[in-house]
Amino acid sequence: MLVFSTSDKGGTGRSVTSCNVAYRLSLSGLTVAYVDFDFGSPTAGALFEISGVERGVVEGGVHSYLLGEAGTLARVDVVAKTDRAALRRGPRLSRLTLFPGDQGGAEFLSRDTQIVDRCMQLLLELEQEFKVVIVDLSAGRSAALEIALHATAMTPLHARTARWLVFHRWTRQHILAASGLVHGKHGLLKMGEAYGHDATELLQSIRYVRTAVADPTSRRNGQRPAQAAWLDEQDKALRQLANSNELGATFVLGTTPMEPVLQWREQIILDADVNANIANEETAQAYAELARRLVDSATWRRL
Ligand SMILES: Nc1ncnc2c1ncn2[C@@H]1O[C@H](COP(=O)(O)OP(=O)(O)OP(=O)(O)O)[C@@H](O)[C@H]1O
Ligand SMILES: [Mg+2]
Repeated sequence: MLVFSTSDKGGTGRSVTSCNVAYRLSLSGLTVAYVDFDFGSPTAGALFEISGVERGVVEGGVHSYLLGEAGTLARVDVVAKTDRAALRRGPRLSRLTLFPGDQGGAEFLSRDTQIVDRCMQLLLELEQEFKVVIVDLSAGRSAALEIALHATAMTPLHARTARWLVFHRWTRQHILAASGLVHGKHGLLKMGEAYGHDATELLQSIRYVRTAVADPTSRRNGQRPAQAAWLDEQDKALRQLANSNELGATFVLGTTPMEPVLQWREQIILDADVNANIANEETAQAYAELARRLVDSATWRRL
């Protein structure tokens, strides 16, 4: 299964959430490839805490591989190479392999057919090798998004299962931006259609992830009653806005709560962090639930 992580805006939590979902999937026994298609700023190496790969690799990153400049694609075994002892020595994971970006990489200026062909071939091979292939795309209507849409419309990749996740924060601007990315004039659906996707089918394969959502009822941070009432009112208004922009609950894969650890540091939330009373249990649960729903066919029934 191919999973494409997208967002209209930057800083939505797309990479942090995708890496945590990748971790939870491999914890549940599935083999996972994490492919860093954020050509301008690859961050997965830092998230998995792999020395020397924090900002991508010098040779064989995804960007140079797709350009035909590198013969072989770099791959990193996350558990073997991570500096994070608790991840290395923690519960057994199924194979979790990072395909890092290039250090100092940039967005593609062209989307020529050779790049798309290479991308199609690469995704096809990874899809055969791994149960789940998560592709972290650059934000917005990027070349990465366009190449992925084009490649997945091509035979034989078109016949494989592809799912699209759109990440957004729980604010007015983010809701409207996420809706625009999918339904807008030059959005995902229109772009996909131009490459030969069936727009209805493509829409069925899209779900939204609401990230870092504050809990209006939380007393955790000594929230005052007036604040709680105000937050609750905003939350209701945002739900309405989401509904009227086709981002309502039925299209949502899940929500991640505001997590203090992630406000301070981009990382994988391990159960060890929860057991040490550092990370909130709800956060670990949210990632586990996202992972579960992502691979559950019931989530993807026709709406
Ligand atoms: N649930 C959460 N609670 C609090 N902070 C979060 C949460 N999820 C992500 N963050 C933080 O939000 C910031 C942006 O996250 P991330 O880098 O994953 O976003 P992105 O959409 O991949 O950004 P970019 O477009 O730059 O690649 C990071 O500092 C991250 O730690
Ligand atoms: Mg990112």
